[in-house]
This record gives sequence, structure tokens and C-alpha cells, in this order.
Amino acid sequence: MEILKDYDLTELNTFHIKAKAKFFVEVKNEKDLVKLFLTPMFQESEKLFLGGGSNILFTQDFPGIVILNKLKGIEILEDDSETVLVKSLGGEWWNDLVNFTVERGFWGIENLSLIPGTVGATPVQNIGAYGVELKDVLQNVEAYEIATGEKKIFSCAECKLGYRDSIFKRELKGKYFISAVTLKLNKNENENLRYKTLKDYIEKNNLIIKNPKDISRAVAEIRRGKLPDPKILGNAGSFFKNVYISEVDFKNILMSYPEMPYFLEDLPSETVDGKLEGVIKIPSGWLIEQCGPRHGGGSWKGYREGNVGVHERQALVLVNYGGATGEEIKKLAYQIIDSVYQKFGLRLTPEVNFV
Ligand code: EPU
Repeated sequence: MEILKDYDLTELNTFHIKAKAKFFVEVKNEKDLVKLFLTPMFQESEKLFLGGGSNILFTQDFPGIVILNKLKGIEILEDDSETVLVKSLGGEWWNDLVNFTVERGFWGIENLSLIPGTVGATPVQNIGAYGVELKDVLQNVEAYEIATGEKKIFSCAECKLGYRDSIFKRELKGKYFISAVTLKLNKNENENLRYKTLKDYIEKNNLIIKNPKDISRAVAEIRRGKLPDPKILGNAGSFFKNVYISEVDFKNILMSYPEMPYFLEDLPSETVDGKLEGVIKIPSGWLIEQCGPRHGGGSWKGYREGNVGVHERQALVLVNYGGATGEEIKKLAYQIIDSVYQKFGLRLTPEVNFV
């Protein structure tokens, strides 16, 4: 295990923002991890744990130590006639785990196909897409306490997963390193087609769903049509969370904007602190699409200024056209937040973490 200095992080964040870490280390096994945790230099430094770098925006160089999770391995722990427990170490690429499970006909995470990032990062923000969240299948999370190097197993309930939220973003922020995740998956047919876009896509294309791989393929097609590939165009998926509002607020806004799309069926789990603000999802992508730069009069969707912009097919996604700084993206994000607030009185919250 080698600790490197002034390490370039451009290739380690999907926004492709140029930033450096003062110190950098790759962890490939759990023994090294504990050894690292017990070194005084490590304990004294500011720390940043990195997986796929798909939910992060560097606004400056990182003055401490970046730890890259490279713990690899996927295994089946238990297997009965109905369910199967699959354990994956945190440094595995999430989509490789999805492929491992769908290839074997296990149901549960096929709707979460193609989400960029590593397995270890998935409980932190309780990844979710197309009607499924990690919460629905998570059995437990293994993590090392940074202060002591001790390993702890968190049950799914202990992780307090909510909409893009968990205990690891709150009380335990920066306190644990997630080393493994175990999922409980179904061996019998258990398709989830609650998400309208997915259901419509399958019907429109006359797809016959026989196994989880068929769903995985459909999800991948939808994602490819809407979301830019971070390998080609720097981005971090949805930059903002969707907005969940109460029925009263909903009715008020609807009076002025009767065409506003809303979703009742796409309810994610409650947040750590209790309930979502409301039970009606208003897609932030639509809100952003309705607003634009104050002096331009147009829509943010497809907007570009210099190196940064808003994706033309999904307004929730901010992009780096090449050479952008984190500050430029952040500035655009706050312009968008302000304009949506001014028009609708709704405040967007970034999903991406600023460093
Ligand atoms: N919409 C617009 N304009 C846009 C984008 C969306 O009007 O530019 C409206 C449309 O009415 C559309 C609806 O929003 O029907 C829903 O759009 P979509 O299915 O693309 O989903 P989303 O709510 O915009 C969320 C997640 C995505 C996830 C999809 C599918 C959040 C913050 N985002 O987006 O997650 O893939 O649902 O389940 O909850 C991510 O977190 O990085 C991410 C991509």
C-alpha cells in the first residue's frame, strides 16, 4: 500500500473536474485498510473516501488524503429455493454486480442497471431508479470505524435509508468506511414495473419479460436514450433531487401551471428525519425546463455557457463540456436553484456532494 502525493483526480470523478489530492491511497484488502486507519498521519488528515466518483463535485484541490476503495469480490452466501444472499465488496463496480445477479436469474436489482459508481457508495445515498431503491433489497452493510479500525455490521434498518439519504450522510458522515454490501434477492419471478416510463417502454416495444435480464436490457436502453455517458460527457447523473410536495402546495401550483407533470406512484422511502415533505413527486427536471437564465428568457434545458451546461435530454443533469471547474458548475447550479425558486417557490436540493 503506497501513499502517493499530489495525485490527479480528474479520471476519478465522472464530472472530469481537474483536482488534486494532497495524499492518495488505494486500498485493495481489509488488512491494509485497518493498518492505514491506525497510522497517525491518516488520523490527523482530512479524509475523503472515493468509489466511482459519480456523485461528487470537486470545487478545489483536496487538502487531505483520498482513499480509493478497491476491495473486490462477489460471492453467494446463502441460496435456498426462494431467495439468495449475495455479498459484494465495496470496490466492485455496481453494474458488474447487477450483471452478476441478472446472469444467474436473480430478481431485485435489474431496475438499477447502469447506475455508475461502486457498490460501497450505494448505501450512502440509497441509490434508486425505475421504481426500485437499494433499500428494497439490502440485507446489511459491513463497515470499518475510522477512529478504531473496528468492523461493524449494520442491518438495513440501522442504515436508515431514505430518498437519496442514509445514516452515512448524517450522524455517521465521515465516520465509517463501507467495505461490503449484502443483498437479499429473489429466485422466483418478481418483476417490478411500477415505474410508468419503464412499463410504457416495455409495452410500446412489445417486449416479453421472462427474466431479470430482459428488464435490465430495457432499463439500459431507456437510460442510454436520456442520460449522457460520463465517459464521453462529464456529469454526475441527477444533480438535484426531485421535489416531493404536499397536496395543498400541489393544488396551489397547479392553478398557475395546469400542465405540470406529477407522480403519485413513484414514492421513494421516507427520509432519515421522518417523512418526505409531501407525497406528490414533481419532477425537478420539468421545473428546471420551465425556467431559464434571467436575461436569456429561454429554458435551462440544453443551455450552455462556456464549458458548462444543462443536458438537452434530461434537465436534472449538469454537464462539463470539457475543462470546466467545479466552481463553474456550482455557480450554474445555484443560478438554477434561484430561478426555480423565483418562479415556483420550490427550493431544489443538490444530490451531488460538493468537496
Ligand atoms: N422531466 C421533464 N424534463 C426533463 C426531465 C424530466 O419534464 O428534462 C419530467 C417528465 O415529466 C418525465 C419525468 O420528469 O416523465 C420523469 O423523468 P425521468 O424518468 O427521467 O426521472 P427523473 O425523476 O427525472 C429520477 C432519478 C434518476 C433515475 C430516474 C428513473 C432523482 C434525483 N433522479 O429522475 O436518478 O434514473 O428517476 O427512475 O431521483 C441519479 O440519481 O443520478 C439518477 C439518474
